[in-house]
Amino acid sequence: MKFFVDTAKVEDIKKANDMGIICGVTTNPSLIAKEGRDFVEVIKEITSIVDGPISGEVKATTIDADGMIKEGREIAAIHPNMVVKIPMTVEGLKAVKVLNAEGIKTNVTLVFSANQALLAARAGATYVSPFLGRLDDISQPGMDLIRTIVDIFSISGIETEIIAASVRNPIHVIDCALAGADIATVPYSVLEQMTKHPLTDQGIEKFQADYRAVFGE
Ligand code: E4P
Repeated sequence: MKFFVDTAKVEDIKKANDMGIICGVTTNPSLIAKEGRDFVEVIKEITSIVDGPISGEVKATTIDADGMIKEGREIAAIHPNMVVKIPMTVEGLKAVKVLNAEGIKTNVTLVFSANQALLAARAGATYVSPFLGRLDDISQPGMDLIRTIVDIFSISGIETEIIAASVRNPIHVIDCALAGADIATVPYSVLEQMTKHPLTDQGIEKFQADYRAVFGE
């Protein structure tokens, strides 16, 4: 399983990229709004940091296929690594079909059922993003959805990649990897949590103490 970082915060993207662990970035309208900066400006900065797929979403207020297609073309023109994020609706699927035929990569987002994932894949989506944390939030096991989509795509030989999204903690990450998700898009805070283990910290302290006792600083 590969990692994308799920944020529009440039400092966090730099930190994750410097660790060498991510190969892409996902953003969404809420994450862009949180930064309070112009969409194109933020996206251009992100493309200058990470050399991999960068998902930029069509405007949250654009709900018709024609509008999404127009915006999708504009997003794709920002940089060759751009992936157009499209919401999982009938209009969204129509937009995916057209953009895919033009060679523009898409990421169908807000996927909450296996049927939605299957439809998105058949419409030509490059990626589907099932949101596991938001399902957990309403007491529906999000991991079950990831596992089911992995199974269906495998049985049907579907090449659309599965991005496990709405990942909230390190256990989600392990479960996504075991389930066979192609990618997990993870907030920087969770990537940082994943680096930590109390025994690692204790080990470093003991090595330092033992070394200092004999050799000094
Ligand atoms: C995915 O692409 C979304 O940006 C993201 O994972 C949503 O996560 P949230 O449910 O924690 O907002």
